[in-house]
Amino acid sequence: MRVNIVHPGAGELHYEIRGIVEFAKKLERTGIDITWENIGDPVAKGEEVPAWIRKIVATEVSQNSASYGYSPTKGLQAAREFIAADRSKQGTVLLAEDILFFNGLGDAINKVYTWLNPDARVLGPNPAYPTHSAIEAAHGRSDHLTYKLDPDNGWLPDMEEIRRTVENHPEVAALLVINPDNPTGMIYPKAILEEFVSIAREYKLFLIADEVYANLAFNQSDFISLGALAADVPTIIMRGLSKEVPWPGSRCGWLEFYNLKTDPDFASYARSIEEAKMTEVCSTTLPQTVLPAILGDPRYLTHLAARRAKYEARASEAVKVLGLSPALNVVKPKGAFYLAVTFKDDYLASGTPKSAANPKAQQLLDTALKDIPKDAFDKRFCHQLLAATGICSVPLTTGFNSTTAGFRMTLLEADDNKFTATLQSIKAFIS
Ligand SMILES: Cc1ncc(COP(=O)(O)O)c(C=O)c1O
Repeated sequence: MRVNIVHPGAGELHYEIRGIVEFAKKLERTGIDITWENIGDPVAKGEEVPAWIRKIVATEVSQNSASYGYSPTKGLQAAREFIAADRSKQGTVLLAEDILFFNGLGDAINKVYTWLNPDARVLGPNPAYPTHSAIEAAHGRSDHLTYKLDPDNGWLPDMEEIRRTVENHPEVAALLVINPDNPTGMIYPKAILEEFVSIAREYKLFLIADEVYANLAFNQSDFISLGALAADVPTIIMRGLSKEVPWPGSRCGWLEFYNLKTDPDFASYARSIEEAKMTEVCSTTLPQTVLPAILGDPRYLTHLAARRAKYEARASEAVKVLGLSPALNVVKPKGAFYLAVTFKDDYLASGTPKSAANPKAQQLLDTALKDIPKDAFDKRFCHQLLAATGICSVPLTTGFNSTTAGFRMTLLEADDNKFTATLQSIKAFIS
């Protein structure tokens, strides 16, 4: 008899953001036009990468250059020096040698949890970007331990709850923040970040901050990097090119390690992540090669400012339209490009059976709903919304490891009229 070949954490791996696509594709074949609101890819949603950025990439690609070769495991020296110099301009000390490149942050997140001792757990937000919650859970072979982000308090966490959880769970070795947050668009205020630092210091934890949306905080003065506040506390900051250039296809993200010298165990752990990367040789070279030219170009700041303004306008419109629905709680995002909407209790109790757009879609919906538990209200809602309107959103509970039911859509739609129509359609569906 063969031993069990399935990894004990395999059951924890869920990625509903793409999981719902299969159902959407089936509906598409019945003639329903799908509005893809599930994936945070600005390029797929029709956003144009500026011509000057494409030109930098094209010039590099057209040369018989080193970008076709392997790069050093940690990443290209010039790219790391550029990032370190940029942090220093913001008053934060980061050494180029303490930066490690990955094939996108997805790769980095996998390595960070996989190479942590299986007995050490990371306390993360709920709801949360599912790569964090799923990989952390798989690493620990049990549910991801979470702290609640409260929609009734602007999606902010309760720091007393976090302190209590840390006290009651000695296995917690690190605290995770996603700032600006996906899926809520919340930005952690300075006082709360300082509380994270002080809890970490008190209980000898390390900190992880996924700041992939840092440059997409609508009001840049709202955003403070945890790297700037961590002082002596070991900290990992996660950044990347996917969302801000935007260039998700580049698969380019990196980790910044702060305060390695204050904690030898943390330094050994960081070293193991680097060794793990070394077994893969390196990460994609091309995006690192062009990173300084793109991020250092004066046009980059204007480009980011325009994108922030657009997302903020989308956020205001979404709150104006959906906020009028008596069934929904809508908190205006302060950054990133998502909107997380939750349901009021009486709407949850109503069950809301809805019919699909055509008889074939109805059959598909009925079959799909048979496999979705009755209490997975938001997953049923997202399937019904999809079958009735073609809008493909993601349920918060199964998609973002959330204890609060709701759904996430994006603020990415490039076409103004289509964005307005999508909002109106959701509102009409609910009413
Ligand atoms: C918070 C957060 N972190 C990381 C990622 C993954 O980014 P990458 O494309 O670099 O893998 C995403 C993607 O949506 C995200 O929302």
